[in-house]
Amino acid sequence: MISSEDLKTKPIPKHVAIIMDGNGRWAKQRNKPRIEGHTQGATALRSVLEGCIETGIEYLTVYAFSIENWHRSPVEVGGLMNLFIKSCHTEIDNLNRNNIRFRAIGKLDMLDSECYQELKRTEEKTKNNEALQLVVALSYGSRWEIAHAAKQIAKAAEEHRLNSEQVDEQLFANYLSTHFMPDPDLLIRTSGEYRISNYLLWQLAYTELYFTDVLWPDFSKEELYKAIADYQTRERRFGKTSEQIYDVSK
Ligand code: FPP
Repeated sequence: MISSEDLKTKPIPKHVAIIMDGNGRWAKQRNKPRIEGHTQGATALRSVLEGCIETGIEYLTVYAFSIENWHRSPVEVGGLMNLFIKSCHTEIDNLNRNNIRFRAIGKLDMLDSECYQELKRTEEKTKNNEALQLVVALSYGSRWEIAHAAKQIAKAAEEHRLNSEQVDEQLFANYLSTHFMPDPDLLIRTSGEYRISNYLLWQLAYTELYFTDVLWPDFSKEELYKAIADYQTRERRFGKTSEQIYDVSK
Protein backbone atom coordinates (compact mmCIF):
# COMPACT_ATOMS: atom_id res chain seq x y z
CA MET A 1 0.00 0.00 0.00
CA ILE A 2 1.25 3.51 -0.82
CA SER A 3 1.88 5.73 2.20
CA SER A 4 1.72 9.50 2.41
CA GLU A 5 5.39 9.49 3.46
CA ASP A 6 6.34 7.69 0.20
CA LEU A 7 4.35 10.21 -1.82
CA LYS A 8 5.98 13.17 -0.08
CA THR A 9 9.39 12.25 -1.52
CA LYS A 10 8.09 13.57 -4.89
CA PRO A 11 6.05 16.65 -5.90
CA ILE A 12 2.56 16.63 -4.39
CA PRO A 13 -0.16 18.34 -6.45
CA LYS A 14 -1.11 21.66 -4.87
CA HIS A 15 -4.66 21.54 -6.21
CA VAL A 16 -6.69 18.38 -6.88
CA ALA A 17 -10.11 18.56 -8.56
CA ILE A 18 -12.53 15.63 -8.47
CA ILE A 19 -15.63 14.62 -10.43
CA MET A 20 -17.30 12.34 -7.87
CA ASP A 21 -19.22 10.04 -10.20
CA GLY A 22 -20.95 6.68 -9.80
CA ASN A 23 -23.08 7.17 -6.68
CA GLY A 24 -26.27 6.14 -8.46
CA ARG A 25 -24.72 2.96 -9.90
CA TRP A 26 -23.23 2.08 -6.51
CA ALA A 27 -26.73 2.27 -4.98
CA LYS A 28 -28.36 0.40 -7.88
CA GLN A 29 -25.90 -2.49 -7.54
CA ARG A 30 -27.15 -2.85 -3.95
CA ASN A 31 -30.86 -2.31 -4.71
CA LYS A 32 -30.81 0.84 -2.64
CA PRO A 33 -32.25 4.29 -3.37
CA ARG A 34 -29.84 6.66 -5.15
CA ILE A 35 -29.56 8.89 -2.10
CA GLU A 36 -27.79 6.07 -0.26
CA GLY A 37 -25.05 6.27 -2.88
CA HIS A 38 -24.74 10.01 -2.28
CA THR A 39 -24.64 9.49 1.49
CA GLN A 40 -21.88 6.93 1.11
CA GLY A 41 -20.22 9.43 -1.26
CA ALA A 42 -20.06 11.95 1.56
CA THR A 43 -18.21 9.34 3.65
CA ALA A 44 -15.74 8.80 0.81
CA LEU A 45 -15.13 12.55 0.70
CA ARG A 46 -14.25 12.50 4.40
CA SER A 47 -11.59 9.85 3.77
CA VAL A 48 -10.19 11.86 0.83
CA LEU A 49 -9.99 14.99 2.98
CA GLU A 50 -7.90 13.02 5.47
CA GLY A 51 -5.59 11.99 2.61
CA CYS A 52 -5.27 15.61 1.46
CA ILE A 53 -4.25 16.72 4.96
CA GLU A 54 -1.74 13.88 5.31
CA THR A 55 -0.06 14.59 1.96
CA GLY A 56 -0.20 18.38 2.15
CA ILE A 57 -2.57 19.08 -0.76
CA GLU A 58 -3.63 22.71 -0.41
CA TYR A 59 -6.85 22.86 -2.47
CA LEU A 60 -9.47 20.20 -3.12
CA THR A 61 -12.31 21.13 -5.49
CA VAL A 62 -15.17 18.64 -5.73
CA TYR A 63 -18.10 18.62 -8.16
CA ALA A 64 -21.05 18.00 -5.85
CA PHE A 65 -23.96 19.24 -7.99
CA SER A 66 -23.96 20.56 -11.54
CA ILE A 67 -26.38 23.08 -13.03
CA GLU A 68 -27.61 20.19 -15.20
CA ASN A 69 -28.32 18.11 -12.04
CA TRP A 70 -31.30 20.40 -11.32
CA HIS A 71 -33.12 18.30 -13.96
CA ARG A 72 -32.96 15.15 -11.79
CA SER A 73 -36.08 13.98 -9.94
CA PRO A 74 -37.34 16.24 -7.14
CA VAL A 75 -36.75 13.35 -4.71
CA GLU A 76 -33.08 13.08 -5.62
CA VAL A 77 -32.51 16.86 -5.74
CA GLY A 78 -34.26 17.31 -2.37
CA GLY A 79 -32.27 14.43 -0.89
CA LEU A 80 -29.00 15.94 -2.07
CA MET A 81 -29.87 19.40 -0.71
CA ASN A 82 -30.68 17.83 2.67
CA LEU A 83 -27.40 15.93 2.56
CA PHE A 84 -25.45 19.16 1.91
CA ILE A 85 -27.25 20.88 4.82
CA LYS A 86 -26.74 17.92 7.15
CA SER A 87 -23.08 17.51 6.14
CA CYS A 88 -22.39 21.18 6.89
CA HIS A 89 -23.86 20.63 10.38
CA THR A 90 -22.10 17.38 11.17
CA GLU A 91 -18.73 18.24 9.62
CA ILE A 92 -18.11 21.73 10.98
CA ASP A 93 -16.13 20.48 14.01
CA ASN A 94 -14.17 18.08 11.84
CA LEU A 95 -13.31 20.92 9.42
CA ASN A 96 -12.15 23.17 12.24
CA ARG A 97 -10.20 20.42 14.01
CA ASN A 98 -8.33 19.72 10.79
CA ASN A 99 -7.81 23.40 9.90
CA ILE A 100 -9.87 23.09 6.68
CA ARG A 101 -11.45 26.15 5.10
CA PHE A 102 -14.75 25.51 3.33
CA ARG A 103 -15.96 27.41 0.28
CA ALA A 104 -18.85 26.91 -2.12
CA ILE A 105 -18.72 28.00 -5.77
CA GLY A 106 -21.42 27.96 -8.44
CA LYS A 107 -24.73 29.63 -9.22
CA LEU A 108 -25.65 29.62 -5.55
CA ASP A 109 -28.71 31.87 -6.00
CA MET A 110 -30.52 28.80 -7.42
CA LEU A 111 -30.28 27.03 -4.03
CA ASP A 112 -33.10 27.26 -1.53
CA SER A 113 -32.46 29.70 1.26
CA GLU A 114 -31.85 27.09 3.98
CA CYS A 115 -29.11 25.41 1.95
CA TYR A 116 -27.61 28.77 0.92
CA GLN A 117 -27.55 30.05 4.52
CA GLU A 118 -25.95 26.84 5.77
CA LEU A 119 -23.17 27.05 3.16
CA LYS A 120 -22.49 30.70 4.02
CA ARG A 121 -22.46 29.88 7.74
CA THR A 122 -19.92 27.09 7.15
CA GLU A 123 -17.76 29.41 5.03
CA GLU A 124 -17.85 32.03 7.77
CA LYS A 125 -17.06 29.58 10.59
CA THR A 126 -14.05 28.11 8.78
CA LYS A 127 -12.68 31.28 7.18
CA ASN A 128 -9.52 31.41 9.31
CA ASN A 129 -8.45 27.82 8.60
CA GLU A 130 -5.46 27.42 6.34
CA ALA A 131 -4.16 23.83 6.02
CA LEU A 132 -6.51 22.94 3.16
CA GLN A 133 -9.28 24.68 1.22
CA LEU A 134 -12.23 22.43 0.44
CA VAL A 135 -14.08 23.99 -2.48
CA VAL A 136 -17.48 22.49 -3.23
CA ALA A 137 -18.86 23.21 -6.72
CA LEU A 138 -22.62 23.33 -6.27
CA SER A 139 -25.16 24.33 -8.89
CA TYR A 140 -21.98 24.80 -10.90
CA GLY A 141 -21.40 24.78 -14.65
CA SER A 142 -18.24 25.96 -16.33
CA ARG A 143 -19.95 27.56 -19.33
CA TRP A 144 -22.19 29.48 -16.95
CA GLU A 145 -19.11 30.57 -15.00
CA ILE A 146 -17.28 31.76 -18.15
CA ALA A 147 -20.35 33.60 -19.51
CA HIS A 148 -20.86 35.18 -16.06
CA ALA A 149 -17.23 36.40 -16.02
CA ALA A 150 -17.64 37.86 -19.53
CA LYS A 151 -20.79 39.68 -18.38
CA GLN A 152 -19.00 41.15 -15.34
CA ILE A 153 -16.10 42.31 -17.51
CA ALA A 154 -18.48 43.90 -20.05
CA LYS A 155 -20.27 45.67 -17.18
CA ALA A 156 -16.97 46.97 -15.78
CA ALA A 157 -16.07 48.28 -19.26
CA GLU A 158 -19.49 49.94 -19.65
CA GLU A 159 -18.98 51.67 -16.32
CA HIS A 160 -15.43 52.73 -17.34
CA ARG A 161 -13.82 50.69 -14.55
CA LEU A 162 -11.62 48.98 -17.14
CA ASN A 163 -10.95 49.21 -20.86
CA SER A 164 -10.81 46.39 -23.41
CA GLU A 165 -6.99 46.66 -23.69
CA GLN A 166 -6.69 45.42 -20.11
CA VAL A 167 -8.55 42.17 -20.81
CA ASP A 168 -6.06 39.30 -20.91
CA GLU A 169 -5.94 35.74 -19.53
CA GLN A 170 -4.96 36.85 -16.04
CA LEU A 171 -7.67 39.46 -15.79
CA PHE A 172 -10.26 37.00 -17.10
CA ALA A 173 -9.20 34.36 -14.54
CA ASN A 174 -9.67 36.96 -11.79
CA TYR A 175 -13.37 37.15 -12.70
CA LEU A 176 -13.92 33.38 -12.36
CA SER A 177 -15.27 31.86 -9.14
CA THR A 178 -11.92 30.07 -8.70
CA HIS A 179 -9.93 33.35 -8.66
CA PHE A 180 -8.50 32.63 -5.18
CA MET A 181 -6.66 29.43 -6.10
CA PRO A 182 -4.18 28.10 -8.67
CA ASP A 183 -5.43 25.90 -11.52
CA PRO A 184 -5.78 22.19 -10.66
CA ASP A 185 -2.64 20.07 -11.10
CA LEU A 186 -4.63 16.83 -11.11
CA LEU A 187 -8.22 16.00 -12.08
CA ILE A 188 -9.70 12.69 -10.91
CA ARG A 189 -12.91 11.27 -12.38
CA THR A 190 -14.35 8.10 -10.93
CA SER A 191 -16.74 5.44 -12.32
CA GLY A 192 -15.10 4.77 -15.68
CA GLU A 193 -16.48 7.82 -17.51
CA TYR A 194 -14.07 9.77 -19.71
CA ARG A 195 -15.66 13.22 -19.84
CA ILE A 196 -15.13 16.65 -18.30
CA SER A 197 -18.90 17.36 -18.06
CA ASN A 198 -18.79 21.16 -17.97
CA TYR A 199 -16.35 21.21 -15.03
CA LEU A 200 -13.59 23.84 -14.72
CA LEU A 201 -13.13 24.07 -18.52
CA TRP A 202 -10.89 27.14 -18.36
CA GLN A 203 -8.93 25.98 -15.32
CA LEU A 204 -8.12 22.46 -16.61
CA ALA A 205 -6.05 23.70 -19.60
CA TYR A 206 -2.80 22.04 -18.37
CA THR A 207 -4.16 19.69 -15.70
CA GLU A 208 -3.13 16.01 -15.61
CA LEU A 209 -6.19 13.77 -15.99
CA TYR A 210 -6.72 10.56 -14.03
CA PHE A 211 -9.65 8.22 -14.66
CA THR A 212 -10.55 5.21 -12.54
CA ASP A 213 -13.33 2.61 -12.71
CA VAL A 214 -13.86 2.81 -8.93
CA LEU A 215 -17.33 4.19 -8.13
CA TRP A 216 -17.17 7.32 -5.96
CA PRO A 217 -18.69 5.74 -2.79
CA ASP A 218 -15.85 3.16 -2.91
CA PHE A 219 -13.19 5.83 -3.37
CA SER A 220 -10.96 6.51 -0.37
CA LYS A 221 -7.69 7.96 0.84
CA GLU A 222 -5.91 4.87 -0.59
CA GLU A 223 -7.44 5.49 -4.03
CA LEU A 224 -6.36 9.14 -3.79
CA TYR A 225 -2.82 7.98 -3.07
CA LYS A 226 -2.88 5.79 -6.20
CA ALA A 227 -3.94 8.81 -8.26
CA ILE A 228 -1.15 10.95 -6.78
CA ALA A 229 1.42 8.20 -7.43
CA ASP A 230 0.25 8.08 -11.07
CA TYR A 231 0.46 11.89 -11.28
CA GLN A 232 4.05 11.71 -10.05
CA THR A 233 5.01 9.61 -13.09
CA ARG A 234 3.80 12.32 -15.51
CA GLU A 235 6.10 14.81 -17.17
CA ARG A 236 4.41 18.19 -17.07
CA ARG A 237 5.69 20.19 -20.03
CA PHE A 238 3.16 23.06 -20.28
CA GLY A 239 3.69 23.13 -24.07
CA LYS A 240 7.51 22.99 -23.86
CA THR A 241 9.74 20.08 -24.97
CA SER A 242 11.29 17.56 -22.57
CA GLU A 243 14.73 19.05 -23.29
CA GLN A 244 13.55 22.51 -22.39
CA ILE A 245 12.16 21.22 -19.10
CA TYR A 246 15.31 19.36 -18.05
CA ASP A 247 18.03 21.54 -19.62
CA VAL A 248 17.84 25.16 -18.53
CA SER A 249 20.28 26.22 -21.30
CA LYS A 250 17.72 25.29 -24.08
C1 FPP B 1 -22.61 11.84 -9.31
O1 FPP B 1 -23.01 10.48 -9.25
C2 FPP B 1 -22.70 12.45 -7.97
C3 FPP B 1 -23.52 13.49 -7.63
C4 FPP B 1 -24.42 14.14 -8.59
C5 FPP B 1 -23.59 14.00 -6.23
C6 FPP B 1 -22.26 14.08 -5.50
C7 FPP B 1 -22.53 14.35 -4.08
C8 FPP B 1 -21.91 13.74 -3.05
C9 FPP B 1 -20.79 12.79 -3.21
C10 FPP B 1 -22.38 14.07 -1.68
C11 FPP B 1 -21.31 14.56 -0.79
C12 FPP B 1 -20.93 15.94 -1.05
C13 FPP B 1 -20.83 16.86 -0.07
C14 FPP B 1 -20.22 18.17 -0.42
C15 FPP B 1 -21.29 16.65 1.30
P1 FPP B 1 -24.29 10.04 -10.07
O2 FPP B 1 -25.49 10.22 -9.21
O3 FPP B 1 -24.33 10.76 -11.38
O4 FPP B 1 -23.99 8.51 -10.29
P2 FPP B 1 -24.40 7.61 -11.56
O5 FPP B 1 -23.66 8.17 -12.75
O6 FPP B 1 -23.91 6.25 -11.17
O7 FPP B 1 -25.89 7.67 -11.69
